[in-house]
Amino acid sequence: MPRHFLNLDDINVDILKSILKHAHELKAQKFEPPQILRGHTLAMIFDKRSTRTRISFEVGMKQLGGHTVILNMDDIQLSGAESLEDTANVLSRYVDAIMIRMSDHEVLSEFASHCSVPVINGMTDLSHPCQIMADILTIEEKLGNIAGKKVAWFGDYNNVTKTFEQAAPLFDFELVISAPEDIYADAAAPMDAAKDADVIVTDTWVSMGQEGKGIDKFRPFSVTPEIMAAAKDEAIFMHCMPIHENEEVSPAVLKTPACVIYDEAENRLHAQKAILAWCLEEAGVNVAAE
Ligand code: CP
Repeated sequence: MPRHFLNLDDINVDILKSILKHAHELKAQKFEPPQILRGHTLAMIFDKRSTRTRISFEVGMKQLGGHTVILNMDDIQLSGAESLEDTANVLSRYVDAIMIRMSDHEVLSEFASHCSVPVINGMTDLSHPCQIMADILTIEEKLGNIAGKKVAWFGDYNNVTKTFEQAAPLFDFELVISAPEDIYADAAAPMDAAKDADVIVTDTWVSMGQEGKGIDKFRPFSVTPEIMAAAKDEAIFMHCMPIHENEEVSPAVLKTPACVIYDEAENRLHAQKAILAWCLEEAGVNVAAE
């Protein structure tokens, strides 16, 4: 079976740690990246808009010597005229790996089951594993080993929260979720969640596809300077972006040294280069190349 990257909890934690180690190495080599993906092509399929995922995968492939083909769902036969199975089989004959952003995780899994090349989850309604690999890379870079750290999540309970939930037992960190009780039963009060936290993290209250959703119930879970003050002195603020200022986060928080959102966005690039290298190792990619 090809090495798919669909969910963190599908993959052995030692493999995830080796991918992160490689990501740190690739970041250190960012001005002279090893050409380990030379001759390999990644197809990217999107049924939702994207800035970071699209650009970081495209640039990452090119930095390592590879190529990309970008396919918007509306432009290919998959959007109605052709089956998942036929599309998966045909793409597997043209490219070496496929990254997909689509809403329905079950459809993504079915598509991957028909592919003979690795498939990478570029975000579904269930999970966003590439984002959380980049987030762990960022936490390690700023604070050292993530094991034993307290990560406090604020706001919606969404695909990014659920991927943090997958990661917490794998990487042995404490995850505290502060969210409206009607969407997360075991929610902590905001100040309790923030107290002595190493990482304060939030996301938009209205994910793509949820336009028109009411946001008033999320307002008590906004990340404010008071929330940051309750965390540890060296705590960092993270957000996978795009940001909605004065909703999930106060503008003042974004102007402090604790805010590491641009490092986090950059780390999508390095984490995904390492994920691509792992996925393609069995296709001859030399992960250890300098
Ligand atoms: N964080 C994230 O996935 O960003 P994009 O939606 O811009 O890809």
